[in-house]
Amino acid sequence: MPIKDATIQAVQQTADILEVVEDYLPLKKKGQNWWALSPFTDEKTPSFSVNPQKGIYKCFSTGKGGDAISFVMEMEGVGFIEAIKTLAKKYSIQIEETELTQEQKEAISEKESLYIVLNFAAEYYKKLLQTHEQGKALGMSYFKERGFIGKTIEDFGLGYALDSWDGLLNEAQTKGYKQEILEQAGLILKSERGSFYDRFRGRVLFPIHTVTGRIVGFGARTLKKDEKPKYINSPESEVYHKSEILYGIFQAKKAIREQDNCFLVEGYTDVISLYQAGIENVVASSGTSLTNEQIKLVSRFTKNITVLYDGDSAGIKASMRGVDLILEQGLDVKIVPFPEGEDPDTYVRKVGGEKFKTYLQEHSSDFILFKTRLGLQETQANPSQKAAVIRDIVQSVVKIPDAIKRSVFFRECSELLGIEEDILISEGNKILLKEERNQKFREQRQAKQQAERLDGGGLVEDTLADANTQAPVLNDPVSFQERECVRILLEYGTRETEDGGKLCNYLLDEIDQIDFHDGLSKRIINEYKEALKRNEILAINHFLHHADDQIKQLVVDMVSEKNVLSQNWKKHHIIVPEKDASLDKVVYSNMLRLKYRTIKKMCQESMQMIQSAQSEEDVNEAMQVYQALKQQENELAKFLGIVYS
Ligand code: GTP
Ligand code: MN
Repeated sequence: MPIKDATIQAVQQTADILEVVEDYLPLKKKGQNWWALSPFTDEKTPSFSVNPQKGIYKCFSTGKGGDAISFVMEMEGVGFIEAIKTLAKKYSIQIEETELTQEQKEAISEKESLYIVLNFAAEYYKKLLQTHEQGKALGMSYFKERGFIGKTIEDFGLGYALDSWDGLLNEAQTKGYKQEILEQAGLILKSERGSFYDRFRGRVLFPIHTVTGRIVGFGARTLKKDEKPKYINSPESEVYHKSEILYGIFQAKKAIREQDNCFLVEGYTDVISLYQAGIENVVASSGTSLTNEQIKLVSRFTKNITVLYDGDSAGIKASMRGVDLILEQGLDVKIVPFPEGEDPDTYVRKVGGEKFKTYLQEHSSDFILFKTRLGLQETQANPSQKAAVIRDIVQSVVKIPDAIKRSVFFRECSELLGIEEDILISEGNKILLKEERNQKFREQRQAKQQAERLDGGGLVEDTLADANTQAPVLNDPVSFQERECVRILLEYGTRETEDGGKLCNYLLDEIDQIDFHDGLSKRIINEYKEALKRNEILAINHFLHHADDQIKQLVVDMVSEKNVLSQNWKKHHIIVPEKDASLDKVVYSNMLRLKYRTIKKMCQESMQMIQSAQSEEDVNEAMQVYQALKQQENELAKFLGIVYS
C-alpha cells in the first residue's frame, strides 16, 4: 500500500542507524565508528562499521552500505516501502497512506482480501491435517512416511484437503468469505453448471510463501500412487506471480545469507527434506525454468547459487539454459549432479544430512567447467558436434559480466577442450558482436518509436542516456576520474574559490562539455545541476538518502571509503585532495585529468574505428579524427606533466 512522503520523511529523520543495526547485530565502539562482524559474510574480524554522525553503515568485506532503511531492506530482504513500514512500527510512527482513486482502492482491497482468504485456507488445511480423522489417517501418515517430523510440518505450514467437493467452500461461507474472492485466489472453481467446488481435494498441501512470509498459493500432491497430475498448483492471481516466487525462500533466506550460498532444487519435497536435514539454504523453482525475477530475488541474499539436478532429470540440458540467465546477472553458479534415479529428497533420506553435505562438497563443480566436460564427452562420441559444443560453452562464458572471471574461464575451458584460448576468445567476440548489433538495432528502433511518440528533441536523449546507465565500471580510469570529480563537487561544492565564486559553479562550467562515461556520475551531476538552477545546492546528505540504490551506494562508498579509495586512485594517477593542498589547485588539476582521461579514451575508441573501417574512405576519415584527438591528448599530457610512452 502506498504511503505518504511525510511518513517516509518521518522515518528517515527518526530512524537512528545505531539503534536499528543493534536490533540485528551487537556493535562495539572503536574510534568514531561502531563495529560488528559482517552479517553478509563469514568472518573472524569485524569489517562491518556504523557511522552514527553520517547515519550510514558500511561493510568492508562485501562492499555493501547505506542508511538505516537500506540496512533493513538488506536484512529482511524486503523493498523500500516494506522497510519504511517496519521502521515506522519500531518507532511508533503513524503510517499515513496516500489517498487513492476508487479504482486503486478496489485493487488494493482486493489484494488484501486475497491474502486474507489464502491465510484462512492455509489455517483450515493445517487444522485438518493435525486434527481431522481423515487428515490424520491419510495426510499425516503420508508425511510421516516421507520422514517429515512435526517441527518441519509446522515450519512449512503443511496441510491436508479433504476428499470432498466443498469442504473449504462450506467452511469459508460460514465465515463469510465471498465466493468471488475465493475463486480469484484460485481456491475454488466454477463448474459448467455454474456451481462452485474446491480445487484441492484429497491431497496434501504445501503453502507457497512470499519472501516476507505471506501465503500466495498452494502446491497439492496426490496421495495415490499413479494419479495424474501428481501435483496441482494454484493458478496465477493478483498476489501470486509465479515468475517472482521461489518455494522455500521465506524459510531459507536467513540461512542463505549466513551460508552465502543458495541451493536450487526442483521440488517441494526436496526443499523440505534438505531443510529438515539441516541444509536450510534451499529453494525450489517448482518444476518450471528459472526466471530473471527469481534470480534477482536470490541475489538479494547471496551471489552464489548451487544447482542440484535430479539424477534422472531428462532435462539437464534444458535447465542449463536457465543457468545462463544466472551467469548473466553476475552470480556464480555451481552444479551438483545426483546418482541415477535419485533426487535430493530421496538421496538425503538415504545417506543422512552429514554425508549429504560431504557429497555436495565433493561433487559440486563450477557450472561452466561441468558443461565443458559434458561437451567433451559428447564430442568424443560424435566429433561432428565439436563446433556446436564449443559455441555452446563460449555462449555461457560470454554471459559472465566480469572480465577477469571471463578470462579465467577461457583459459580453463581451453585446457579442458585442448583448443587454443585465442580461438575461444574470438568465438566469444563473434557472439558478443552479434548480440551487440542486435541490441543496437533494438535500441535504435525503440528510440525511433519514442521520438515519434514524443515529437520533440531533448527528451529522447535523456531517455537513451538513462537506458545506458550501467553498474559501476571500476577498473576504468575515466570512471575513476569522473567519480572523483563528483566527490569533489559534493564535498566541496559550497566552498569559495580564490576569485570569490562558488566552487560548484566553476566545476560544473568546466565539465559542461564533457560527456560523462560513467552513468551514475552523470546522473548525480545532472541532478545537481537541476537543483542549482533552483538555487539549491545538494549536499552529500541528499544523495545518502537517495531513492536510487545505486546512487546511494556510490555516495556511501565515496564518504566512507575515502582512504581506501584514495590509495587506489593514486595508482591510477588520479589526484585526490591532500589535507593542506589548495582546493583550487586540486580542482583545477582534477579537471585537467578528467579531460585527459576522456580524450585518451576517445583516442582508443577512434583507433578501434580505424581498425574496423570497411572502406578506404572510412579509414581516412577515422584517421583524421584520430590525429586530432591524439594531438589534444598530447597537449594535455604535457600540461599535466605525465610521462607516457
Ligand atoms: P515427489 O514425488 O513428491 O517426491 O515429488 P518431487 O518433489 O520429487 O517432484 P518431481 O521431481 O516429480 O517434480 C518436481 C516439481 O515439479 C514438483 O515439486 C512440482 O512442483 C512439479 N511437478 C511435478 N509433477 C507435476 C505435475 O504433475 N503437475 C504440475 N503442475 N507440477 C508438477
Ligand atoms: Mn521426489
